[in-house]
Amino acid sequence: MDTEQLFPPGHPSMRQAAAPSSVEGALDGQFQRTWEFLAGIGRNGRTGGYRRFAWTAVDLELRAWFAEQASQRGMDYHCDRNGNQWAWWGAPATGALVTGSHLDSVPDGGVYDGPLGVVSGFLAVDLLRARGVEPGRPIAVTNFCDEEGARFGVACIGSQLLTGVLDPDRARGLRDVDGHTLAESMQRAGADPSTMGRDDEALSWIGDFVELHVEQGQRLVHLGAAVGVATAIWPHGRWRFRFEGEANHAGATRLVDRRDPMLPFASTVLAARALAEQAGAVATVGKVHVVPNGTNAIPSRVDAWLDSRAPDETTVADLVAAITTTAQRAASSADTTVEVTRESYSPVVDFDARLRNRIHEVLGGVPELPTGAGHDAGILSARVPTAMLFVRNPTGVSHSPAEYASAVDCVAGVRALAAVLEDLSCR
Ligand code: GLV
Ligand code: MN
Ligand code: MN
Repeated sequence: MDTEQLFPPGHPSMRQAAAPSSVEGALDGQFQRTWEFLAGIGRNGRTGGYRRFAWTAVDLELRAWFAEQASQRGMDYHCDRNGNQWAWWGAPATGALVTGSHLDSVPDGGVYDGPLGVVSGFLAVDLLRARGVEPGRPIAVTNFCDEEGARFGVACIGSQLLTGVLDPDRARGLRDVDGHTLAESMQRAGADPSTMGRDDEALSWIGDFVELHVEQGQRLVHLGAAVGVATAIWPHGRWRFRFEGEANHAGATRLVDRRDPMLPFASTVLAARALAEQAGAVATVGKVHVVPNGTNAIPSRVDAWLDSRAPDETTVADLVAAITTTAQRAASSADTTVEVTRESYSPVVDFDARLRNRIHEVLGGVPELPTGAGHDAGILSARVPTAMLFVRNPTGVSHSPAEYASAVDCVAGVRALAAVLEDLSCR
């Protein structure tokens, strides 16, 4: 997958030098420069949010940035069969210590969700080198492909393919909103979709995986800590509800003659909220497609995507079953139909106890916290030991242009990650 040739070293957007030898004393400046540079890629001028969707020109620019960061540091660069990018300090080998995150975003997302982990990985390597650390095993920084699933609907595509959770045929056939398949989009970007699928060789490289991420919530604010360590990820999934009725004239069709799928859709959204509240869970409908989407036409179809999460799997299953029952009743009373399809699901994740305890010790007892957000570390945890560090988010807001973390806390995150990598690389 040689898409990086599209933005070769020397491309104007790539000139942002790393300076490993001077990093120890100048980490703040290095962080700011890297951050300001990345902040310019994929930002929507109208909303201030980021639209960094997999295999688009913006994504290719980010991928070129990643390859260039590896090259500037003299790290070996590798793109695996599923489009995940790797930068190696030391030769790729079984049991390496791997860090990183993702560079893609949700529609109008913030700049920290994902990139903070990738940038912190590179800067942590710089810090360790500047200190003359000689790791006992190779260290890799990664960019996992399409973590948010914003374009093709399934989250964590790169890590799900790598671990064999996502069937490559299904992945190749996933379509974006314009009807382009993932396979076509990769080809157009110069990548080869035919080699996608479970990759035991790449997986064997990961001895331990540590992902640093901006916190999506305010627990660290309340705990008064810049950095925390993750305990668990809530189980979560995505379900498509397809309501179908009959298109007709908005003025000339009597109410009693209508088969309007908007009505059961609306009832289902309200029920999802009420049922989630009762269950101690969360349920969100954040994406809707209406056909034909005309002001003066009763729709023929409404597709709505439910995202549901809870502390345990039974609660998620029961909640989705209850929402489905409500949707079916509402659909039938409006003389319409509903079909529910599970598009993705991630079981509960309990992060590796050995890694968690080690990190806790290395960082002098930083707070531990669970999260309701999904991550590549969660997907990888089914196959390899994984851990996560969170960096304080003053407002708790994420998946929004308002997402923020202070530079001071981000630098504290880099230092924490470097300490963890130093400790683990010698084990
Ligand atoms: C990804 O950030 C998710 O939690 O869906
Ligand atoms: Mn996210
Ligand atoms: Mn993320």
